[in-house]
Amino acid sequence: METNYSTFRKEELKKIALITGITGQDGAYLAKFLLDRNYRIVGCYRRSSTLNFWRLQELMIYENNCLELVDLDITDPVAVSNVVRKHKPHEIYNLAAQSFVTSSFENPVLTANINSLGPLYFLEAIRIVDKNIRFYQASTSEMYGLIQSSSQDENTPFYPRSPYAVSKLYAHWITVNYRESYGVFAACGILFNHESPLRGEEFVTKKITSAVARIKHGIQTTLFLGNLNARRDWGYAADYVEGMWKMLQAEKPENYVLATGKNETIRNFAKLAFKEAGIEIKFQGAKENEVGIDTQTGDTIIRIDKKLYRPAEVDVLLGNSTKANNELNWKARTSIQELAKVMVEYDLQSIGQSIK
Ligand code: NAP
Ligand code: GDD
Repeated sequence: METNYSTFRKEELKKIALITGITGQDGAYLAKFLLDRNYRIVGCYRRSSTLNFWRLQELMIYENNCLELVDLDITDPVAVSNVVRKHKPHEIYNLAAQSFVTSSFENPVLTANINSLGPLYFLEAIRIVDKNIRFYQASTSEMYGLIQSSSQDENTPFYPRSPYAVSKLYAHWITVNYRESYGVFAACGILFNHESPLRGEEFVTKKITSAVARIKHGIQTTLFLGNLNARRDWGYAADYVEGMWKMLQAEKPENYVLATGKNETIRNFAKLAFKEAGIEIKFQGAKENEVGIDTQTGDTIIRIDKKLYRPAEVDVLLGNSTKANNELNWKARTSIQELAKVMVEYDLQSIGQSIK
């Protein structure tokens, strides 16, 4: 899609936001949120041999003429600087990342290049090109890792447990450092897990809800999972992108936790998701012999695959977003039941259509 900002009349030019990771879950929801608020979007994607704009299409913003798609791999510092210089955005949201924890154990150097150096290139470009550009860094609750406090807020010490989390910790602190050293308006959102129908298939919620739909449609028999005891604080991505935007509209740049304040085990999320499709699951057995049984048919539909265990696990996360609530008037609005329902409904429909 070709859109040239020079063709926009000047008075039409409101705020310009540059979003990296536009093809990802949060990038798509954030672009939709900002387009609805009259922003022009420079949406940065990395070129691949196969077009990857399905999320933008799902949200019906792919053809929006206020969205310009720009080819940018954030591991190229020259390209990052050129894009910032050329588009002079008011706000930059750095959402691009190698975001899958499991993959970070397989590809630790790649993960560091993208997740740690990418944000640094943007901060350097802002420092040199225009220090008034506001910058959002996608920090993560994974940085708490081996938790040092039963619930985690902006003052909780970090203890990362994966190459992904370590790479994000560098990005977090370099963002704080550019704020403190050079006065860049650089905010870090420490976001707890947030999901949606547009979540990547490898993440556990989406893996579960898409398996629910395939099992219901009779095209899958068994769902293999790893650690069922891990607990996550799961919210809805559409709520969380609003928090990102609020951080860049605040008077001062700060770090903010966004979370629901409630958590659940993987096991219970699976129960909830299957229930949405009318399937009651009973778990029995222990450790790698634990299974999930359909109480109506007696079929074993969940099994453990030890290969899905992680070399170092984050057992439990529980966020406290009192600061974001008080200072940004932000609150997670969607319960885990609503989240499971919307994800299962979407998967039942889309998988149903694909097998017609
Ligand atoms: P996602 O769906 O995996 O999207 C990641 C995006 O980054 C994709 O658009 C991906 O492009 C892009 N990307 C990866 N490497 C790149 C590179 N070298 N150059 C340019 N783009 C690149 O992740 P998400 O769930 O939307 O998360 C957004 C951000 O928030 C990430 O930084 C993630 O680490 C962080 N975060 C997420 C959560 C969560 O629960 N979702 C929680 C805390 C923090 P392709 O489509 O080409 O792969
Ligand atoms: N992916 C996956 N697949 N995870 C499984 C599985 C499985 O089959 N079985 C159990 N799990 C457990 C993992 O061991 C982990 O404890 C938990 O489910 C959640 O895994 P993911 O959904 O992959 O998410 P994550 O918590 O590791 O990371 C996500 O949230 C972070 C914020 O805390 C990602 O979105 C990160 O990018 C994000 O920073």
